[in-house]
Amino acid sequence: MSGHLPVMLAEVLRMLSPKDGEHYVDGTFGGGGYTRAILEAADCRVLGIDRDPDAIARGQELVRHFAGRLTLVHGEFSNLETYLDGAQTDGVVLDLGASSFQFDEPARGFSFRDSGPLDMRMSRQGPSAADFVNSADARDIARVIAQLGEEHNAHRIARAIVARRPVATTGELAQIVKDAQGPAAARLAIHPATRTFQALRIHVNDELGELERGLEAAAGALAPLGRLVVVSFHSLEDRIVKRFLTARATIAPLGSRHAPVARRAQPAAFRLLTHRPLMPGATEVEGNPRARSARLRAAERLAA
Ligand SMILES: C[S@@+](CC[C@H](N)C(=O)[O-])C[C@H]1O[C@@H](n2cnc3c(N)ncnc32)[C@H](O)[C@@H]1O
Repeated sequence: MSGHLPVMLAEVLRMLSPKDGEHYVDGTFGGGGYTRAILEAADCRVLGIDRDPDAIARGQELVRHFAGRLTLVHGEFSNLETYLDGAQTDGVVLDLGASSFQFDEPARGFSFRDSGPLDMRMSRQGPSAADFVNSADARDIARVIAQLGEEHNAHRIARAIVARRPVATTGELAQIVKDAQGPAAARLAIHPATRTFQALRIHVNDELGELERGLEAAAGALAPLGRLVVVSFHSLEDRIVKRFLTARATIAPLGSRHAPVARRAQPAAFRLLTHRPLMPGATEVEGNPRARSARLRAAERLAA
């Protein structure tokens, strides 16, 4: 296991622009790559959050290293306002999806390359991917694979899963998906199970719901001039971030001038720092293929 290479770190730092005396939330602590760089960039403090207990355990070394400047909390970034206990923050960064630690550990059940239990739960709590594929009906499985994986063969794959369950391991699932795709699978540029695994991971961890709630929570916790930086890896995630920021970076349309005052224009809450998403440079992608699909969007909180 080689650890997690932080994606678009230089761009994240540029957008977050850490300053002495400020406070930041790293909502997806992971291997601590962003947190470490933020704490090294300025004499600031960081609240790191991760729903994976392994990430929090690994991060204790960093807590000791940056004595008094880093606090780690095990939980979801959608709850960041609770963890801040009413305090405001000068920046929130979210680096979505799973970490290399999670992908590279077969026992966590994210990987189709090395077989392990079909788990995929970042938090190690709640229903696993096996619970879902072994109990849902074919229509629900197909809907998840089609919507969250953008997989054209979702119905065929879902029927194959139902016909061959119970499915216990990632290796079994990868083989079922590969068989269901038929000979065409050999011509795919990616492993035939990539989209199915991605879809199940997003579903099991309710990643899109978490993102929507997390963006609202960040908007509620940011101090005026605080920065929100989000790195996403999936077009559905990027769309949610784009819509959220665009809607709040413009003045909501004026209703009728006869409308009650409370129903008239809402002042904009954010100023966009990126009008189009930033993408990683070719050198980064060459050194870290996982960065390939990364999209970074950032905005600055305006005074309420
Ligand atoms: C891509 S990694 C972050 C890597 C990190 N930026 C670094 O430099 O090491 C994503 C991490 O966020 C965590 N995570 C994903 N969704 C989360 C959520 N809703 N709340 C808290 N943590 C989450 C995952 O468990 C994983 O450890």
